[in-house]
Amino acid sequence: MRRLELDLDVDFSERRLSGSATLELERVDPTSTRVHLDTRRLSIERAESGDGSRWSPAAHELGPADPILGAGLSVVLPAGHDRVRIFYATSPSASGLQWLEPAQTAGRRHPFLFSQSQAIHARSWAPVQDTPAVRITYEAVVRTPPELVALMGAAGNTTGERGGTYRFSMPQRIPAYLMAIAAGDISFAPLGPRSGVYAEPSVVARAANEFSDTERMMAAAERLYGPYRWDRYDILVLPPSFPFGGMENPRLTFATPTVLAGDKSLVALIAHELAHSWSGNLVTNATWGDFWLNEGFTTYIERRIVEEVYGADAAAMEAVLGRQDLEDELARLDDRDEILHIDLAGRDPDEGATRLPYEKGALLLRSIEELYGRGRFDEFLRAYFDHFAFQSITTADFVAYLRAHLVGSASGAVASLPLEEWIERPGLPAVAPRPVSEALGRVARAAEAWSSGRVEEARRAFPAWTTQERLQFLRRLPTPLPPARLAELDAAFALSSSGNSEIAFQFLLMALRAGYGGADARLEEFLVSIGRRKFIKPLYEELVRTDAGRARARAIYARARPGYHPIAVDTVDRIVGAPA
Ligand code: BES
Ligand code: ZN
Repeated sequence: MRRLELDLDVDFSERRLSGSATLELERVDPTSTRVHLDTRRLSIERAESGDGSRWSPAAHELGPADPILGAGLSVVLPAGHDRVRIFYATSPSASGLQWLEPAQTAGRRHPFLFSQSQAIHARSWAPVQDTPAVRITYEAVVRTPPELVALMGAAGNTTGERGGTYRFSMPQRIPAYLMAIAAGDISFAPLGPRSGVYAEPSVVARAANEFSDTERMMAAAERLYGPYRWDRYDILVLPPSFPFGGMENPRLTFATPTVLAGDKSLVALIAHELAHSWSGNLVTNATWGDFWLNEGFTTYIERRIVEEVYGADAAAMEAVLGRQDLEDELARLDDRDEILHIDLAGRDPDEGATRLPYEKGALLLRSIEELYGRGRFDEFLRAYFDHFAFQSITTADFVAYLRAHLVGSASGAVASLPLEEWIERPGLPAVAPRPVSEALGRVARAAEAWSSGRVEEARRAFPAWTTQERLQFLRRLPTPLPPARLAELDAAFALSSSGNSEIAFQFLLMALRAGYGGADARLEEFLVSIGRRKFIKPLYEELVRTDAGRARARAIYARARPGYHPIAVDTVDRIVGAPA
């Protein structure tokens, strides 16, 4: 698959995309007589093949539906034909699309649609070779009701004009998991000469304030790793059911509105998605077993961008909290999932998306940086992105390049850089870096004092603490706290009414563990209004630990489930149980 042309109608009342996908193919195996595509719950109306001048009907066959992979679509490709055209429609329950009712949007007047293709959901909205090893350029025509706007992770997004017919092109080759589409009542605010933000009209000004450092982040990333190759960098703020924090769709990051804290304190998420413009979108994991090449590199680069824009102390705090996340994850995961080069055979690749590839991967890169010096490592990374630009590579490709250009294959470095252990074994090598933040050290001491009854320092300092310091304080308190002490915390710092999603989440988790009832109403409101998986999954897991909690989980989930994204529904069904 080399090039794709989409022609799609967005039908909100039927919850369907319908139209055609035209694929230009390269017959890599000259003897092959069929092309095999991925689909999931697509209705295939008919298929054609052609040579670029005329089309003829093509025999095709839709295989049985595999629960993880969907159904293979095989289309006969006669000699001389190098393109197929497939007329199809998506299912209302497509795993990669969420169709929102007006009531689920901020404006409450128009419906909304967005895609989430990573890891293997592109196949639920277009018949493609849905593997990160294959890259395409694409063009698309998308039709919506005239008062709504369609956007794609591509060139051509409108900054004002509506009318219902929108044309896009993606001139750089990308893997299918980076294909993205959205439609709704969406307006635009510029952030800089080559960046801007899209959101519902009532959200766009708040989003523009929150993300006003985006150009500085771009400049910082370019200084470190070379030119931004995607022309524009825009951000689309989605309704709160978006199941992720962010998704690095090229030219158009999709972001959760829960990052709009009002004080820019959660914008490391933008640094992260922007970093994917190098690690992930430019140099891509060839298989989902190499996912750490995307996320570990991106987490490392995210913190380098944070350091450039917000300073070394801010970056150190993120690194310390990241190592804590990693240790929490290591305490939970099976050995096989602690391996960077993960074996996902027989599993849904979404199962490999734990914190491990992010944080263990970032620590590995940090340890290489520390061993060889920042100057040399920066130079290495920059050359790596140039060398593999617009290619999909494996862990072995990275290791070979690293050995050829930085570490050599000499055994001298082995003790301090046990690469094989880092990449192929569970746990963390003893030599793994331990990031330090003086500020978070002070906060940890204040947390310790507070737990042993000396509450004054925390009371005095809390109002001036950053979000990261507040999180550190909460994480460093003993678990579970007596309910009375949770009440005391809540009274002192108004935590159950915090407008900061990370702090509210952390506090709600502690409240559940402590059996503190004072946050019950907030918990229910939080779970019903927010569908971000990172937040809702641990809260439901905590709830179902007791019989009473399980009953509450069921009651809350019954209200929340209709508003959740298919990916979140899948996750929470496994925890709470699907409704009968
Ligand atoms: N690419 C990921 C999101 C993703 C991973 C979606 C795997 C589907 C499968 C994105 O870049 C990401 O990592 N998002 C994080 C936020 C980030 C700041 C760590 C998230 O959504 O939590
Ligand atoms: Zn990421």
